[in-house]
Amino acid sequence: MFEFTTRAVQMGQSADPVTGAIVPPITLASTFLLDGVDTPRAGYDYSRSGNPTRDAYQVALSDLESGGEAVAYPSGMSAEDAVIRVLTRPGDTVLYGHDGYGGTGRLFTWVLPAEGKQARRIDTTQADTIRAGLAETGARVLWLETPSNPLLEVSDIAVAAELAHEAGAYLVVDNTFATPVFQRPLELGADVVVHSTTKFVGGHSDLIGGAAIFADGLELPQPGLSGSSSVADEARWWQNATGAVPGSFDCWLAARGLRTLPVRVKQMAASAQTIAESLVEIPEIVQVHYPGLPTHPGHAVAAKQMTGFGAVISVELATPAIARAFAESTKLFRLAVSLGAAESLIEYPFAMTHQALAATSDAAPDKLVRLAIGLEDPVDLIEDLRQAIALAVR
Ligand SMILES: Cc1ncc(COP(=O)(O)O)c(C=O)c1O
Repeated sequence: MFEFTTRAVQMGQSADPVTGAIVPPITLASTFLLDGVDTPRAGYDYSRSGNPTRDAYQVALSDLESGGEAVAYPSGMSAEDAVIRVLTRPGDTVLYGHDGYGGTGRLFTWVLPAEGKQARRIDTTQADTIRAGLAETGARVLWLETPSNPLLEVSDIAVAAELAHEAGAYLVVDNTFATPVFQRPLELGADVVVHSTTKFVGGHSDLIGGAAIFADGLELPQPGLSGSSSVADEARWWQNATGAVPGSFDCWLAARGLRTLPVRVKQMAASAQTIAESLVEIPEIVQVHYPGLPTHPGHAVAAKQMTGFGAVISVELATPAIARAFAESTKLFRLAVSLGAAESLIEYPFAMTHQALAATSDAAPDKLVRLAIGLEDPVDLIEDLRQAIALAVR
């Protein structure tokens, strides 16, 4: 097998057999010519059920995450919703971290109960709280986001996998922040990986997408609606039944993103490390959250399970007003939600990405600002942050 970076460039990328085009064409067709009523020419009949551009992208994603199979979705949230639907039944409980993306919190807090399921937040950075949570709830799914959004908390995937499996639960890991370049949860024992491919995979702030990658041979306790016990078969069946499919152009863009993913995220993480180290020196910044800092509580676990610490940093300021003013005072960092793209972004999670939870006890800290480091020169980015802090505290 080739090295990761080679596979990132080559997987799902064979030249077009007819024209020799090095970049595979985008199959935009919604429907396919049949040779007989039940004889599709190359396995395709209708693009909701399957599409060559989507398939090639899924092969690449699955390969890079060391999975059995991948299913692409129209957004990260749609991937999360699909995974929960496939793995749980009414009455089941999902355990998830007390820090995590606000949209995941909204899905688990309001949508799950509306479907007769429960979700409970626990501290997933501690083995004891995971063990106790699993024992108390008999949860069907343990859901980790590591590093987490926005506090960059780190949970030990191998430990969580062991505890989940002992308790008869599935372990799902949201690998959006780490990407398969830095962390491959399925190799550490997780059952399912989910992504918002909107972020690093796409990498250019020009698509919304999601994906679920299933461990090879992952089974349900009994056959699902598809008649199969394979989780991947069931996920594909649900996708066709509910229609949560991404468009071909978005799949093509995301597949293009995969080819440069290693080089982009390594550069971004190197810049993030430099920037985090320099932010620590700024007296107006109360705390810097970045797993690459040796002072970060999750640094040792991150160093064990990741080969890089990612490109997201969050910082705490003295007051909510200063935090807001800081987020509104940068010139290079653009004030926008999302992350993982070429351009650096800054945001105020309490009122932006985590706004859905603002009125609840799960609200993001109101003195926190999140930085998504892009591909600009870190010297310029540091200078921009310094001038913004100076303006914010004036
Ligand atoms: C960690 C994480 N997971 C999932 C999502 C949801 O993805 P999407 O916005 O593509 O639906 C996000 C979005 O910010 C995220 O940060």
